[in-house]
Amino acid sequence: MVELQSTRVIRVDPIAPDAAALEEAADLLIAGKLVAFPTETVYGLGANALDHEAVARIFQAKGRPASDPLIVHIFSLSQLEEVATAIPAIAWQLAQHFWPGPLTLVLPRQAVIPANVSAGLATVAVRMPNHPIPHLLLKLANYPVAAPSANRFARPSPTTAQHVLDDLDGKVDLILDGGPTPIGVESTVLDLTGAVPTILRPGGLPIEALQALVPTVTYSPRYANLDETAIATPSPGMLLKHYSPSVELRLLRGSAENVLAKMTAQAVAAQQAGKKVGVMVEDEWRGHFTPLGVTVAPLGAVDDLAQIAQMLFAQMRALERAGVDLILTHTFEQSGLGLALQDRLFRATEGKVIEVG
Ligand code: TXA
Ligand code: MG
Repeated sequence: MVELQSTRVIRVDPIAPDAAALEEAADLLIAGKLVAFPTETVYGLGANALDHEAVARIFQAKGRPASDPLIVHIFSLSQLEEVATAIPAIAWQLAQHFWPGPLTLVLPRQAVIPANVSAGLATVAVRMPNHPIPHLLLKLANYPVAAPSANRFARPSPTTAQHVLDDLDGKVDLILDGGPTPIGVESTVLDLTGAVPTILRPGGLPIEALQALVPTVTYSPRYANLDETAIATPSPGMLLKHYSPSVELRLLRGSAENVLAKMTAQAVAAQQAGKKVGVMVEDEWRGHFTPLGVTVAPLGAVDDLAQIAQMLFAQMRALERAGVDLILTHTFEQSGLGLALQDRLFRATEGKVIEVG
């Protein structure tokens, strides 16, 4: 495929989007082009989900293996039956309760959805984003839209239009710039095709919220390494290497006291070895690291996981841009949004956690 020469970026009000701009974006989607847009979670790289050639362009633009399936985005409940079949009652209940919102449901796929959307699987992942821009865009296009996160494969997900441009300039036709995305981590992916509802990816909707409606829901982290020859990975989306910045990231786990001490020691040692060091830490630790000459990327207040989630990918990219050679950060508690934070950081380091007690 011929590479595009340039990518257009249009600023759009995220609360009251300009219909003319979105009309243009919808026309591009209908014509088989790629349009990146904000959602409440992260930016998505959209294509008409019913057009297999347009979908193939998504994989090409991202450098994403064909074995990793995409999420189909819809704007109304009536579209659900267009893309999925044999929809169980629990799916309707969850949709009623949590849509629009950061929940993706894996259901049996309708034949109208091309196989490449789902990496050849008999299932399809569907969600209804809670954001005025994709809501109006999807309505105007009147097609379901396949959209992975709008980053190059295995990179941190984009939470601003600039992040999309940094990864995909010249590879996407249009970026709708609606400012930073409010949640900052991707949707929770829930598989409803097995005997028990299973979380495949923790995300913006905490497991505790799901448990209120589906007490039997399970989540057990499973990570796989990429096998290019597979049709689809055994647990799609469980690829270990993901969300990685281009510089070394070290993930420390232990008590706050031990983590702070070890992080300090590692920062100082790396600096003595001539490295530029960055830390991603809560605001409360800023005053400790700044005097050490370390580049601090504050994530938010220690008890505000929503703020930390919003900043996580953005701060990884900010530290990359600042030219650090090493990023130090720590794990999060395994509840609420902490589960998603932990998953993203774990994969960013390819599963290497440094235990400090
Ligand atoms: O918040 C989000 O979900 C964002 C925004 C743009 O909507 N999208 C997103 O897409 O994160 P992506 O492609 O980066 O992640 C999709 C996840 C992957 O883990 C993929 O393996 C999983 O959903 N997935 C998609 N289709 C699936 C299927 N049929 N079965 C199991 N997992 C599936
Ligand atoms: Mg992604």
